[in-house]
Amino acid sequence: MGLYVVASAKGSPGVTTSAVVLAGAWPVEPVLADLDPAGGDVALRYRDEAGAPLDPERGLLSLGAAVRRGNSDVRLADHVQRVSGGLEVLAGVTSPSQVQGLGPAWLHLARAMRVVPDRDVIADCGRLMPGSATVPVLQHADAVLMLARPTLEGLSHLRERLHSLAETLQFGTHEAVPTGVALVTSYRDGGVVGEVQSILDRSRLPVTVLGILAEDEKAAEAIRVGDGRRAAKSLLLRSGAAVAERLHRLARPVSQSQNAEWGVA
Ligand SMILES: Nc1ncnc2c1ncn2[C@@H]1O[C@H](COP(=O)(O)OP(=O)(O)OP(=O)(O)O)[C@@H](O)[C@H]1O
Ligand SMILES: [Mg+2]
Repeated sequence: MGLYVVASAKGSPGVTTSAVVLAGAWPVEPVLADLDPAGGDVALRYRDEAGAPLDPERGLLSLGAAVRRGNSDVRLADHVQRVSGGLEVLAGVTSPSQVQGLGPAWLHLARAMRVVPDRDVIADCGRLMPGSATVPVLQHADAVLMLARPTLEGLSHLRERLHSLAETLQFGTHEAVPTGVALVTSYRDGGVVGEVQSILDRSRLPVTVLGILAEDEKAAEAIRVGDGRRAAKSLLLRSGAAVAERLHRLARPVSQSQNAEWGVA
């Protein structure tokens, strides 16, 4: 099914927290894939359903090893773990050098994540840099969500990064990867969505501002420690549900040629 990237241009606007929020509200059952090249946080934050730490041997690295061995039937399901609360996750790497070690396997990893039969994959790609290891994942995503805080610096880094990723995301072509932006700010700051959309339009960036992810420290902290119940009914979860629905709708329809390319019936 679909592959959805969540990332930022600079700073730590809450990519991991937001990816967890989006996964919790996703319209179909998702896998949360921790692909942050700087090192994953998901396996450090969450425990399995029995309360034990996640198995560090099972995740992105084991999937990468299977892909590199050239197994024809690599299944994402063999590498995910279910965390307390029910979410399935692909644990990330513990150090950036492991990401470089995956090298050319990234293209095949992107493929493995896109052909999962009954799951969408929400991938936390951390900060995006041109030339970063996760570029193949971006290129093959069904939609990309960039998170930013709507400050002068946040927006100027966002604009710069989107311009530098224009080729990767094939902006201006029929194959462009649908790209959205979510703003991490007060939920009362409603006018900011239109303002940021105008700024991005004036910069000729073909991206859609999908809404606000509410700035909500208490709920973010509850999510960080895996206490979803404490975050229930929070503005963060409610705003996340709206953004999840819009991001899911933003995805490009899968064409027949893409299906053939990816070997999907
Ligand atoms: N919507 C939010 N409102 C308030 N605080 C938030 C929100 N989202 C995240 N935070 C807080 O910001 C900090 C960073 O969050 P998180 O780890 O999700 O960010 P990140 O962008 O993934 O960072 P990193 O670059 O370390 O991967 C955490 O303390 C988290 O609780
Ligand atoms: Mg993170």
